[in-house]
Amino acid sequence: MSDKSPIDIDGTAKSTDYSFNIIPKEVKKINTKYRKIITKIPSESTVKTLELLRKHEPHSMNVELPIVWENAEGFQIFDGGGNCWIDFSSGTFVANVGHANENVCKAINGMVEQKLLHNYYFPSAIRAKLVKKLSEMIPSYLNKIFLLTTGAESTETTIKLARIFGRKKDPKKIGIISFVGSMQGKTLGALMVGGKTKEKHWIVNLDPDMHHLPFPDSDSGAEFFHESMKNLELSGVDLKSIAAFMVESFQGWGALFYPKEYIQELRKWANENDVIVIFDEVQAGFGRTGKLFAFEHYDVEPDLVCCGKGISSSLPLSAVLGKKELIDVEPSLNSTHGGNPICCAATLASLQVLESENLIQESYRKGKILENELTKIKAKYPKMIDIHGKGLLFAIHIKNTNSNQRDPLLTDKILERCMEKGVMMLRTGLGTLKIGPPLIIPDDALIEGILTISEAIDECINENNGNKEI
Ligand SMILES: Cc1ncc(COP(=O)(O)O)c(C=O)c1O
Repeated sequence: MSDKSPIDIDGTAKSTDYSFNIIPKEVKKINTKYRKIITKIPSESTVKTLELLRKHEPHSMNVELPIVWENAEGFQIFDGGGNCWIDFSSGTFVANVGHANENVCKAINGMVEQKLLHNYYFPSAIRAKLVKKLSEMIPSYLNKIFLLTTGAESTETTIKLARIFGRKKDPKKIGIISFVGSMQGKTLGALMVGGKTKEKHWIVNLDPDMHHLPFPDSDSGAEFFHESMKNLELSGVDLKSIAAFMVESFQGWGALFYPKEYIQELRKWANENDVIVIFDEVQAGFGRTGKLFAFEHYDVEPDLVCCGKGISSSLPLSAVLGKKELIDVEPSLNSTHGGNPICCAATLASLQVLESENLIQESYRKGKILENELTKIKAKYPKMIDIHGKGLLFAIHIKNTNSNQRDPLLTDKILERCMEKGVMMLRTGLGTLKIGPPLIIPDDALIEGILTISEAIDECINENNGNKEI
């Protein structure tokens, strides 16, 4: 396993000790077309809920921004205390067609009225409709679809399929190659194949056939791929034992894409060596990056694709898409809640909205607006700020100019300031501000959100004397 990545991406999430305050604080009142902050933050009416959660839930559940979600509609989040935020998180990149989309709600209600809340994997018409719809949207070579519930289940399933498939050719073909810093989920297999070393400290007996290549930086193409494979071989790995590559289509925490030539070379090597290529599109899929799938940016064909999050824009549903010979290699693919009828109804409605409102094209178009606005922030702080991303998925990387390393503490303070100003984002803990609004966000709300982030950055940098841009 290589631990030499060109950039430090290997950290555990939430790596700062900065704790968001839950004692209501006086903040500047805001009342614009899209944001409303009219109480102390957090709102006094929500503190009891926050306290209960802090008391009963794991500490790690309480490190996100202390805003109690009363309702979420479209691209906005409301706390029940009269405050309203522009949502730049999509609830961790789920609400692609918007929160509580009318058609998605209708489909959910319809299934409740039909009185089909659960059917295990006995046949249902709604599941048939969903797989038909999906098969019409995705490339025809991915001709089988297996429905599950969570993203981690989908990545773990592909590991299983890759190994069974590999072993049919050669019993030692069980190796899976992924990347330092990558995220495939939080269950045992997903953590082992993922590349967040610090999150695996408790596993102890790591799978010796899961390997991690350094994540390539923007100038590392085909040559870097071969160099990394050579280093893997030199570390004692028999390359004939490799069954699959697990490729997160971009690295989530930093919205970092691979150089196209790198992935094309990986695909070529995989073809030549009878190795399958899995793309983890759990975060990237369904229009997030301005294409249906982010692997399309690399002009390559995957053998298996993991989907989740934005596939439904709401209820938990995930999927493995793949070639028939790969999916049908395992006779016991099923799960108790996989393809739940209400989740299927929500997903079908969400896919229909994605198409009828041209949201993939809209994600591409709005992504250009987003990039343009972020470039202005970078121009103000060229040494402190880098931006990465595509479509409606970007990350602002915030660096300390003294150390030239990302600055998670300053980033958390900016995140908190944005919250106080009516813009909600996710905490990565790694010195990045991730921006991923619902794809339906109006242009002026998108711009208003970015201008708010820009204001928060200015304020926090000015207050943070030790890290002034020179
Ligand atoms: C790329 C990627 N893969 C897999 C997962 C795991 O999905 P879930 O949390 O639904 O298990 C995530 C979740 O953040 C993800 O971003």
